[in-house]
Amino acid sequence: MRFSIKHLSLAIFGLASAESICDKYTTALLKENNATNQLKLITLVVNTAVIGNYTKPNVGIKVPGILAAAKYNNTDVNLAQYFSGALESTNNGSKSGVSVNFLDDGGATPLQLNKPANGTSSNQYKLLTHLYEFFGAVLNCSQYGKSGFSSYSGDTSMYEVHKFMALDAFEVGYFIQQVGMSAASFGVSDSDAATVGNTLNAVFGHKCAAAAAVLPSAKEELQAICIADDCPVATNASCKSYDPVVKPTNTTANGTSTTSASAAGATSTSNGVQLTSHLGLVIALLCIAMVGIPPFG
Ligand SMILES: *[C@@H]1O[C@H](CO)[C@@H](O)[C@H](O)[C@H]1NC(C)=O
Ligand SMILES: *[C@@H]1O[C@H](CO)[C@@H](O)[C@H](O)[C@H]1NC(C)=O
Ligand SMILES: *[C@@H]1O[C@H](CO)[C@@H](O)[C@H](O)[C@H]1NC(C)=O
Ligand SMILES: *[C@@H]1O[C@H](CO)[C@@H](O)[C@H](O)[C@H]1NC(C)=O
Ligand SMILES: *[C@@H]1O[C@H](CO)[C@@H](O)[C@H](O)[C@H]1NC(C)=O
Ligand SMILES: *[C@@H]1O[C@H](CO)[C@@H](O)[C@H](O)[C@H]1NC(C)=O
Ligand SMILES: *[C@@H]1O[C@H](CO)[C@@H](O)[C@H](O)[C@H]1NC(C)=O
Ligand SMILES: *[C@@H]1O[C@H](CO)[C@@H](O)[C@H](O)[C@H]1NC(C)=O
Ligand SMILES: *[C@@H]1O[C@H](CO)[C@@H](O)[C@H](O)[C@H]1NC(C)=O
Repeated sequence: MRFSIKHLSLAIFGLASAESICDKYTTALLKENNATNQLKLITLVVNTAVIGNYTKPNVGIKVPGILAAAKYNNTDVNLAQYFSGALESTNNGSKSGVSVNFLDDGGATPLQLNKPANGTSSNQYKLLTHLYEFFGAVLNCSQYGKSGFSSYSGDTSMYEVHKFMALDAFEVGYFIQQVGMSAASFGVSDSDAATVGNTLNAVFGHKCAAAAAVLPSAKEELQAICIADDCPVATNASCKSYDPVVKPTNTTANGTSTTSASAAGATSTSNGVQLTSHLGLVIALLCIAMVGIPPFG
């Protein structure tokens, strides 16, 4: 078989565009494209979206982070309560949510050091590492699942993971905004950030959304994260697939706190699936957010 110049250039172009987002930005930002650096790139982007911008230098965009109490469209949002154990909002495999403290191993401090947690046996560690793995898979990291970059083994239905949070349009809107800002802080253009926001909103921001596969290898499952009354309805709605929405119980509302780190720390280490809960959203959002980020520099 012979290739003309035209065919050859098309083949080269095809090869170039086949390089994954993960590989492309690992090379651009960290030079050597290996498992260590792919995991590091993903850690940087995820940690920034969670706790706000902490790396230097940045491109001058302040990212408050999804853990920050904030206003979105002039409405107060406080996503930290879904991470702290303040709400019985974690799907631990039963019919209602349970309180789990996912910030039980150093909180923001280790994240600022590009780590998931202080140690390796906490809720926080499992949540963050699952997040990196999921993100690595969706971004098609070439070293994902190979030595130095473990594969994701969590629940691939973002609805199942988030359903006891009963998230509303402002909460999900803030999530998406922070993901866009994290991407922007690493050099993404305004138009790409807008594209990202629109994509995230389409996949996770509409109640009753029909089953879909987010990870390449996953089966089709429910993915809606915005499920409260004020969420827009998906165009291809399948409302009967979803359970009735129940707001999570507030464990602190009656003046007694049942959300100590020690209580949450008792959570079984076998709960890797559910431990992806809150950040499962972030991962998925970030994965999509990274699509279209132009090369750094
Ligand atoms: C990847 O490259 C970095 C240097 O950029 C090196 O420190 C690290 O050990 C390498 N990792 C692997 C798995 O080869
Ligand atoms: C976050 O970004 C803003 C804008 O560039 C900057 O002023 C601030 O110092 C950054 N925060 C940290 C902790 O680096
Ligand atoms: C985590 O490590 C930091 C120091 O890096 C320390 O100040 C903090 O107390 C540790 N927290 C936990 C829960 O181990
Ligand atoms: C990952 O690979 C799949 C299959 O080639 C492709 O459809 C998808 O767009 C890729 N995702 C990213 C983020 O590059
Ligand atoms: C927030 O404001 C933006 C811009 O006006 C709008 O597109 C979005 O639908 C609003 N979201 C909510 C939940 O009000
Ligand atoms: C709409 O949902 C049905 C099943 O629920 C599916 O077969 C169809 O492909 C979906 N269409 C789009 C455009 O997503
Ligand atoms: C707080 O009070 C409400 C209303 O009495 C009750 O439904 C809820 O279970 C209480 N929560 C806790 C954690 O005790
Ligand atoms: C839970 O209760 C605390 C303390 O009263 C309050 O600050 C917080 O906003 C409540 N959260 C929800 C979701 O009701
Ligand atoms: C979650 O489920 C596991 C296994 O059933 C159990 O050991 C653990 O105590 C549960 N965690 C919470 C916070 O209920």
